[in-house]
Amino acid sequence: MDIQDTRKNEDCYILAVETSCDETSAAVVKNGKEVLSNIISSQIDTHRAFGGVVPEVASRKHVESITLIMEEALKQSGLSARQLSAVAVTQGPGLVGALLVGVMAAKSLAFALDKPLIATHHIAGHIYANRLVEEIRYPCIALVVSGGHTELVLMEREGHFRLIGRTRDDAVGEAYDKVARAIGYPYPGGPYVDKAAAESMDAAELPRVWLEPESYDFSFSGLKSAVLNLVNQSKMKGETPDYGAIARGFQESVIEVLVEKAIRAVRGAGAVQLLLCGGVAANRGLRTALAGRCEREGVDLVIPPNVYCTDNAAMIGAAAYLKWTSREFASLSLKADPGLSLEAWSVS
Ligand code: KG4
Ligand code: ZN
Repeated sequence: MDIQDTRKNEDCYILAVETSCDETSAAVVKNGKEVLSNIISSQIDTHRAFGGVVPEVASRKHVESITLIMEEALKQSGLSARQLSAVAVTQGPGLVGALLVGVMAAKSLAFALDKPLIATHHIAGHIYANRLVEEIRYPCIALVVSGGHTELVLMEREGHFRLIGRTRDDAVGEAYDKVARAIGYPYPGGPYVDKAAAESMDAAELPRVWLEPESYDFSFSGLKSAVLNLVNQSKMKGETPDYGAIARGFQESVIEVLVEKAIRAVRGAGAVQLLLCGGVAANRGLRTALAGRCEREGVDLVIPPNVYCTDNAAMIGAAAYLKWTSREFASLSLKADPGLSLEAWSVS
């Protein structure tokens, strides 16, 4: 048996690092599915004062905390550094300065320990967060809904990603945050809109944007503008806008389109599972609507718990395991890539 074969039978412990946006996170994940530790330090309180993420501030904050977070992840895992199999890091997509901090930290650790380095795709991480809760079956469809992405991804087999639909303008989380800002909620406003929508009895009438009949693409900027018009019109009339009804109308429009297109993609691809992932997967309205529809249609739906929906390093450890299995390691000259393609990241 050669060294590679022996390695294949060993347990794999990956220390993963995630710094693509405003969460500094490190985790240790066993065999791509068992989370031994998952430390997340959110910068939200810092960015809230600016009404959104300030890239330079994010980078500085990552620099301040990354070493401590990585040490804590290792400590909580109960492992020694020598027991790690590999070090993984989000290479992209994300904010370049923020990604750079994680990439440098992961490269330094991999070099110091003489362990393989695994370059990981942030969205593959969001998708494989589902493997932390359930075995993924193929072919499957992933509905990715985050602050920067809204995508329908077809996976015909493990580690193979085909983008069949994407947003043509705003990502759904971005639309949530902009609508929230118009209503006056703090950043990030998605959870506040979700709560207001659940509490309102009325829903403002807002458009559904379906695009061409066969398209799996999305568009949310028209809906966002319709919300802003509604708010401005009532303010101009000297009225207080019914923010609850606006939040509910907006959320209903978003959910109807997301659910419909996801189910159509499942049917079109003959998928046996639907995975929901990304920060907006924490949305209670979306989770409930999708679960109800999947139940009625007999579709097997997987949704990770909230902690694995928003940015975290455990999901990066789960995705990195794909490249551990295929032995695709990065060199120490790895660079952050803010535009990294998901399809190109597929395992070979
Ligand atoms: O995946 P994520 O943590 O970061 C990105 O990679 O973008 O997603 C963050 C986004 C933000 O836009 C935030 O407002 C949204 O997820 N979000 C929500 C909810 N929780 C987080 N949007 C709607 N409803 C929620 N409950
Ligand atoms: Zn994310």
